[in-house]
Amino acid sequence: MMILGIESSCDETAAAVVEDGRQLHSSVVASQVEIHHRYGGVVPELASRKHIEMILPVVTQALEQAGVAPEDLDALAVTQGPGLVGSLLVGFSFAKGYAYGLGIPWVGVNHLEGHIHSAFLDENPPEFPFVSLLVSGGHTALYHVTSFTAAELMGQTRDDAVGEAYDKVAKVMGLGYPGGAVIDQRAAEGDPTRVPFKRPFLDKNGFDFSFSGIKSAVNRFVQSHADELADLRPHIAAGFQEAVVDVLTHKLLAAAEHQGCGRIAVVGGVAANRRLRERVRAAGAAKGLSVHIPSVAFCGDNAAMIAAVGYHYLQQGMRGGVGDDVYSRNLR
Ligand code: KG4
Ligand code: ZN
Repeated sequence: MMILGIESSCDETAAAVVEDGRQLHSSVVASQVEIHHRYGGVVPELASRKHIEMILPVVTQALEQAGVAPEDLDALAVTQGPGLVGSLLVGFSFAKGYAYGLGIPWVGVNHLEGHIHSAFLDENPPEFPFVSLLVSGGHTALYHVTSFTAAELMGQTRDDAVGEAYDKVAKVMGLGYPGGAVIDQRAAEGDPTRVPFKRPFLDKNGFDFSFSGIKSAVNRFVQSHADELADLRPHIAAGFQEAVVDVLTHKLLAAAEHQGCGRIAVVGGVAANRRLRERVRAAGAAKGLSVHIPSVAFCGDNAAMIAAVGYHYLQQGMRGGVGDDVYSRNLR
């Protein structure tokens, strides 16, 4: 089954062609980073306008790269939520119109399930069940995933998402937006023990997270060391990152142990983080777990993961209807 996936929940317009939920034929992602950079965050109205401009070129490019004509598509899968309503509406309305025009079925997909199943786009996909750590700009959560359409939420952040904390820390250090990848680079040049931060464990035995405290601690440190900031930046980045990665790694392994599960995954934009990948791989190996982290191209927002989930929904007989609408918060 040849599926066109479409994703437009935030500031990336993406389309992909995936066969049978796994075989990737193309994946195109048009980022809007350049536009939102100067505002220090995503401006929803600008994001929607850019999606309108990009949706057709991105879909056309995905089909061309795949060597697939629109008539060869069997179905379409599109992100329905959660995300920015104006952004979601562009991809969702386009998808509906495109599917009805071609006379093929379509299905709405939950963005978070998309991230969780990005693990299946890898050469070495996990078997069920597995415990997945989803770390992105909008979400930080642990799931016990038992099938393609079932994931039990074990814990989540009570305040900031980890990607959001990375972005805010980068901003107070004057490193621009989005800051996750910049902190990742800077931290590699720093000593994580020079400027240590308290590990934000919240509750050592629970699976919820909290990152607003460490974000404020970094902010206070930066304000009180303004004169030495240039020299200290890599060390602050490394100190912050080590504390965050410690907590994420610890809780992921504890969650797997709690479920008696031998497989773990890390997905979402922050799963691109080199230190997190390294630490989870090492900790997983030490415990004899199989570790699944998608290649960096599938960590951030993309449409291949949406097509992958859509395939399983369609196989189960699910279909989108003309009256369906997007949702901004996680409803399912
Ligand atoms: O999954 P994603 O593309 O979008 C959401 O669904 O939120 O995640 C974006 C987040 C941003 O906060 C970004 O700073 C962070 O992922 N990120 C990183 C890295 N690359 C992207 N955080 C840490 N290290 C990275 N290398
Ligand atoms: Zn995302």
